[in-house]
Amino acid sequence: MTKNGLVLGIETSCDETAAAVVQNGRTIRSNVIASQVDIHQRFGGVVPEIASRKHIEWIMPVIDEALVKAEVDLGDLDAVAATYGPGLVGGLLVGLAAAKSLAFARGLPFVGVNHIEGHIYANILAHAGIQAPLVCLTVSGGHTDLLYMPELGTYDIIGRTRDDAAGEAFDKIGRVLGLPYPGGPQISHWAEQGNRERFLLPRGLLDADTYDFSFSGLKTAALNTMNQAKQRDEELPLADFAASFQWAVVDVLTQKVLKAALVYDVEQILLSGGVAANTSLRSHLTETAAKHGVQVFYPPFDLCTDNAAMIASAGYYRYVNGQRDPLNLNAVPGLRLGQR
Ligand code: KG4
Ligand code: ZN
Repeated sequence: MTKNGLVLGIETSCDETAAAVVQNGRTIRSNVIASQVDIHQRFGGVVPEIASRKHIEWIMPVIDEALVKAEVDLGDLDAVAATYGPGLVGGLLVGLAAAKSLAFARGLPFVGVNHIEGHIYANILAHAGIQAPLVCLTVSGGHTDLLYMPELGTYDIIGRTRDDAAGEAFDKIGRVLGLPYPGGPQISHWAEQGNRERFLLPRGLLDADTYDFSFSGLKTAALNTMNQAKQRDEELPLADFAASFQWAVVDVLTQKVLKAALVYDVEQILLSGGVAANTSLRSHLTETAAKHGVQVFYPPFDLCTDNAAMIASAGYYRYVNGQRDPLNLNAVPGLRLGQR
């Protein structure tokens, strides 16, 4: 039984300081994100020490704003939920300390949430009608996991990246192309006008009998293509190169996810994490799966990348299922799904 079904979610695992109030796991009452992207952009990637300091500066104003926008007092809340891993330890500690302090001061239950599970719950927030069993692809800057979910909240990891995460590959290639951080949205933008067949780039582990992914071969091939153009004093056609690179990632992700959906005999696929914002991945996976009668769900753009509404939603479902965490719960930078 819940009081008002209200959960305050807090997310500080990377470079967004975020707080949100969600009701009954599905209604977003507020969703405040203070992004540090502009600060890290000049370094070409997230600088953990700077991220931690910014989280410390911003966490309380962001929480205040989330409560004010939701028109909620701390006393109205049923629980406080915060990301405790995976992520950058300095950032995680800031969000956790804030959440645990509020819970202690107001006598509220505290629930620790796995960031990856949060990304998956962005779909539960956005769509009615999601039903297990299903297959879920979580693709972000730090993770590329293929999951079989026999029921909601239960995760069987059937494949993962053996080297870079999909988002990381986008970001690294974006950086060498001289595009602003993060590279994913930039490459996606350039790819819109490009010819994806112009450069043939490798699809890692596509023919291997595994659901694992590998993007290091693609990264090397892409770098070689860039270097060859430079040596020949030719200008790299950026749109075609971006489209070919994106297509290599989208093609391999789609083929592996679809294979899993057919082998595990599910009717639904969930796409989650920052790379789920990629329009080519969204449309290609949806069209390919539809040919086999499989439905694909992905969150709206603003819920694909890091936010606290997804943490509040995952926290709500864990709370109603009885999860309560002690106030000495520590940050776990390498936390895996299904692990406590
Ligand atoms: O989930 P997220 O916000 O942070 C992590 O938990 O890592 O994901 C950020 C990642 C970055 O690598 C970014 O380049 C990628 O998501 N990303 C995209 C797009 N939007 C964000 N990658 C490809 N296409 C996009 N449109
Ligand atoms: Zn994330």
